[in-house]
Amino acid sequence: MRKQIIRPLIVMMALVAFASCQNVESQASEANQGPDADLKEITPPIKYMDVGQNLAIKTKSALGKNLIAALSEKGAAGAVEFCNTRAIPITDSMSTALNAKIKRVSDKPRNAANNANEDELAYIAAWKSAQAKGEKHPPMMQEKNGKMLGYYPIVANQMCLQCHGKPKVDIDIETLDVINKLYPEDKAVGYSDLDLRGIFVVEMNKQ
Ligand code: HEC
Repeated sequence: MRKQIIRPLIVMMALVAFASCQNVESQASEANQGPDADLKEITPPIKYMDVGQNLAIKTKSALGKNLIAALSEKGAAGAVEFCNTRAIPITDSMSTALNAKIKRVSDKPRNAANNANEDELAYIAAWKSAQAKGEKHPPMMQEKNGKMLGYYPIVANQMCLQCHGKPKVDIDIETLDVINKLYPEDKAVGYSDLDLRGIFVVEMNKQ
C-alpha cells in the first residue's frame, strides 16, 4: 500500500525535474540563436530622449556661461559679437556619443543659418499653442531616415531680452546698431520673458 503511493510520487518528481531542465535548456538555446542574441540580452535599450536632453543641457550651459562672461566684460553691444562669432562653433563642438549632432534653430532666426525646417516649425507651433492654452509641451523624439531626432525647447529669460526683447525698450540703441549691422535680416526681436526663442535639435544615429 505504501509503496504504491511512493512510486508514482518519485516518478512525478522526476518528471517535473526533467521538464524544468528541458525548459532551462530550450531557453538557453533560444537566447543563443544568431550572433547578436547574447548582446541583445544584456544591452539596455538606448534612451535617445535622455542622451539628447543631456546634450541639449550641456550645450545650453556652455553657451550660457560664455554669454554671461561676454556680457559682464563687454556689455550687451560688445557681447553681440561674441554670439555672432562663437555661438555656432560652441554648439557644433558639443557633439558626443552616438554621433550626436546638435543645432539651435528658430522660426524667427537672427542668423538665417539657424532657420527651422518644416518638422522643426511644426514642433515650435505645437509648443506655442500649448503655451497659449496654459499647457506644457514636452520635448519630442522623432525617427526619420534612420536617425533619431530630439526636439528640446529654448525659453527666453530676462537676460535674453537685452538682445532679443523689444527694440529701444529692452534692447538699447547701441546694441541695436550692432545687431542691425551684423544681421540686416534679423527677425529675433520682440520676445518677452518665457517666450519660446527657439529649439535645440539633437540628431542621433539609430543603433
Ligand atoms: C548679447 C546679445 C545676446 C544675448 C544676451 C542673447 N542672444 Fe541669442 N543671439 C544673439 C546673436 C547675435 C545671435 C546670432 C548668432 C549667430 O549668428 O550664430 C543669437 C542667436 C540665438 C539663437 C539661434 C537662433 C537665431 O535666432 O539665430 C537662439 C535660440 C538664441 N539666440 C537664444 C537666446 C537665449 C535663450 C538667450 C538668453 C539666455 C539669448 N539668446 C541671449 C545675441 C544674443
